[in-house]
Amino acid sequence: MKLSVIGCGYLGAVHAAAMASIGHEVVGIDVDERKIATLSAGEAPFFEPGLPEILSAGIASGNLRFTTDMAEAQGAQVHFIGVGTPQQKDGYAADLTYVNAAVDALLPFLSPGDIVAGKSTVPVGTAAELAPRIEAVDAMLVWNPEFLREGFAVQDTIDPDRLVVGVADGEARAADRLREVYHPAVAKGTPFLVTDLATAELVKVAANAFLATKISFINAMAEIAEVTGADVTQLADAIGHDARIGRRFLGAGIGFGGGCLPKDIRAFSARAEELGRGESVGFLREVDAINLRRRERAVTLVIDALGGNVVGKHVTVLGAAFKPHSDDIRDSPALDVAVRLRGLGADVTVTDPEALENARRQHPQLDYVDDRDEALRGADAVVVVTEWDEYRRQLSPEHAASLVAGTIVVDGRNCLDATAWRAAGWTYYGMGRP
Ligand code: UDX
Repeated sequence: MKLSVIGCGYLGAVHAAAMASIGHEVVGIDVDERKIATLSAGEAPFFEPGLPEILSAGIASGNLRFTTDMAEAQGAQVHFIGVGTPQQKDGYAADLTYVNAAVDALLPFLSPGDIVAGKSTVPVGTAAELAPRIEAVDAMLVWNPEFLREGFAVQDTIDPDRLVVGVADGEARAADRLREVYHPAVAKGTPFLVTDLATAELVKVAANAFLATKISFINAMAEIAEVTGADVTQLADAIGHDARIGRRFLGAGIGFGGGCLPKDIRAFSARAEELGRGESVGFLREVDAINLRRRERAVTLVIDALGGNVVGKHVTVLGAAFKPHSDDIRDSPALDVAVRLRGLGADVTVTDPEALENARRQHPQLDYVDDRDEALRGADAVVVVTEWDEYRRQLSPEHAASLVAGTIVVDGRNCLDATAWRAAGWTYYGMGRP
């Protein structure tokens, strides 16, 4: 099928390449000329495992191309909208400028019978507002939220847990076109849920709100563990064995960040307020507050471990990305911890296998060292803030001890083997652990 993908950021670039990899003829469109040039060369503009391979294969096969010219969307049967919906500069609500601009630019090139499939995360009610403009040219709007995780984006797009398609009243046939688009996943029995537009929009924010709540729940338990001597990782294992609860997303630490969870729960709160139902999701403000407190907690642990003052102390921060397998530093708890320590007068050295270039650009006041061992050399304290394998599995505590000046480690992700680090002479501090 001929497809267009409007917006070639994280979501759009992966979607375009993934759709080409399952046999569709895809054109990716973006206003950013540099991004289009990079993608056209078969290169990924950001770190995402597996993406360069499917980009270059798509381009070589002739199935995939990228352009800044919206006119090239003409002739596609399904047009995916995958532009960003960032947090507004002066509030919590989502900024819909890019979604509206994409629809405006696309309208002149739609043909009767075309489908516009919104993938961006939007406040519930957005699709209903957009639909009349699309229906005016005899095209149809569906909402098809995306649940991909960074680091697993290619796999999550080609082989998702579920597919959700929201359709307008009486337009159920529009969902059939999406079934064709996702034919390999549909053929293997992936749940395909057809809903109304509002439900589809809500599914996405509800899923992210649930995940964020799960993380803040365990972090709240970590706060209680800290004043009682309990161990939150054992607690998580124990409650996680209950299949109704499940162990995943019960990783206590410095909390969630990234381009989705923080902004999505805030936008959801803002939208609920607009709808007069602010109290229904009032707990999300608490989820956000708990999450932000955990970054501060990691900083406090470092201060206490260094005897109450970090001024002039050399602190090595292992990690900058908001999570491993990503170079994304948007709302990264890792960098937040580093910046706070720097603000308190510590001499902060940051290292990360993938995210240093982005971090350098955003926080030039920190020192960055590419080589992990070089970064550790002479440190008075080490803080692990992104659980890359390079720190979690591949760094032996004995080797690390041979490089540093002081054997203090704060494990902001509870990802190290505390027993092994202690045995190697380190004073180990976890999050919510004795
Ligand atoms: C998330 C959703 O998982 C995905 O479905 C949605 O489409 C976009 O938002 P992503 O932002 O890529 O994906 O990251 P995710 O793996 O969900 O992690 C989010 C944050 O939570 C990271 O900062 C991670 O470190 C943190 N986290 C995750 C925890 O602190 N504890 C956990 O147990 C799990």
